[in-house]
Amino acid sequence: MTPWGIRKKIKAALVGSSGPTPTEKLSLTMTLPSGSSHRIDCEPGYTLAMASQILETPIATSCPDGGCGGCVVDIIEAAGLRAPSAAEQKLLDEKKYGPNTRLACHAKVDGSGASIRIRTIWTMDSIKGT
Ligand code: FES
Repeated sequence: MTPWGIRKKIKAALVGSSGPTPTEKLSLTMTLPSGSSHRIDCEPGYTLAMASQILETPIATSCPDGGCGGCVVDIIEAAGLRAPSAAEQKLLDEKKYGPNTRLACHAKVDGSGASIRIRTIWTMDSIKGT
């Protein structure tokens, strides 16, 4: 237990008060640029970027404020994904990524069944600036 229940408050903010129970595990499929597919289990309210942290090579994220568009993924099956927020949709439109794309740092998982194709994975070069 942390002082003031900060973890519980953060989790409630991410999941929302009307979401599924916090202990429920949701599953989705992530396909890496190499073509290998992986079933991922995560908690409700996780973003795709957060859920991918279980992979050996997670989705590359490039900014702290969700404004670069570098974490774009292709959506094969959208089941279980929360609809894009206005901010995410605006960025998707500006970048002209197309209708079957989402930003991994914005897109949240509310149910099972999603399937995505990752365009860019995190590598050591991601932080070297090369
Ligand atoms: S990492 Fe920059 S928009 Fe997602």
